Amino acid sequence: MRILVIGSGGREHAIVHALSRGGGHELHAAPGNPGMAATCDCHPVRADDIEGLVGLSSRLGADLVVPGPEAPLVAGIADALEAAGTPCFGPSAACAMLEGSKWFAKELMAAAGVPTAPGRLFSTPAGVLEAAGGSWGGWVLKDDGLAAGKGVFLPDGDGEASEALGRLFPGGRGRVVLEKRLHGREVSMMALCSGEEAFVLPPSRDHKRAFDGDRGPNTGGMGAVCPAPGIPEGLSDWALSSVFRPVLEELHRRGTDYRGVLYAGLILAHEGPAVLEFNCRFGDPEAQAVLALLEGDAGAAFLSCARGNPDFSGIGILPGASACVVMASEGYPGAYRSGFRIDGIDSAGDDDTGVTVFHAGTAMSDGSLVTAGGRVLGVTGTGAGLGEALAKTYAAVRTITFRGACWRKDIGAT
Ligand code: GLY
Repeated sequence: MRILVIGSGGREHAIVHALSRGGGHELHAAPGNPGMAATCDCHPVRADDIEGLVGLSSRLGADLVVPGPEAPLVAGIADALEAAGTPCFGPSAACAMLEGSKWFAKELMAAAGVPTAPGRLFSTPAGVLEAAGGSWGGWVLKDDGLAAGKGVFLPDGDGEASEALGRLFPGGRGRVVLEKRLHGREVSMMALCSGEEAFVLPPSRDHKRAFDGDRGPNTGGMGAVCPAPGIPEGLSDWALSSVFRPVLEELHRRGTDYRGVLYAGLILAHEGPAVLEFNCRFGDPEAQAVLALLEGDAGAAFLSCARGNPDFSGIGILPGASACVVMASEGYPGAYRSGFRIDGIDSAGDDDTGVTVFHAGTAMSDGSLVTAGGRVLGVTGTGAGLGEALAKTYAAVRTITFRGACWRKDIGAT
């Protein structure tokens, strides 16, 4: 198959790597990154240029397109590709509303009987203030729309609440979901979906805060492990029967079949597990850890989903565990400098030693690999257990150098 992967981050590099391990497919990426360029042809089309991407897939004669990020999915790339006759492993715009609108997801969960915190939608700050009644510790405020990970606020007093409301209602306008705050450990569950069928991938956990001990500002994710430790037995079966199947059935009942990855952010609350949010794509950096444990022909499984005839017989989950540690630029998620030379990747390991270095924010400059983003690399290792996976991953991290390199030392430990 000729497969086009859309995106340029660590998640997309992990998707390309998973596709390259089975099936002998011809791989392309748009726009891709220097790491992906080792296994696929990269084309200079931006991930939000829907027309350009559909044109590229036609010119290539792509048999399958796999969008990595949410923005082109919410903007309707799957629909545009379907109209052009190209299968897409990614949901239609109607289904991507599960991520594109928190309120759509809330309503759909209510209709499907999926456990989630009760919430209400508001279009004015005054409405939120009245409903919260000043007891901010019990509430979460969420921007209804896509907010690139910056739309969720857990204020702990009037000052923080007022700052959150200012961001959520710029110029007094906005759509905000106010929902009850649940307490517990979080876990990411992802499933390959098509119509009413789902193949649930093993549970993973990302580490969103910038610094050790879960301190500091929220980031796009500083690392992930799979399977996530401390998970109650049977959680995957529960997620299939109580989350994925009911949501897929409800979408099917509404005439919109979901075809792609569905990501459920769960919280293991003392009332029982509940859904915090849905994403319409692989998590980043969860994909780096989870896909490292996927064996078989991922391309064939993705295509079967895209065509609406799911067949997961050619894929499986390897025993053992994996870990991904993100190496970031000093200052991230705030301001940082780029353009620093990266050394040591070649001696960090390879597939034979169970280590892969996924590129996230890198570029080529005068023949050298340099930093070009906040999250620079996602160093990923596998092992018989989480301890071995982490040991291999951190050993690989220590071989890689660039000026200002930062990483968390406690991935998998919290
Ligand atoms: N790691 C969370 C996300 O990808 O949204």
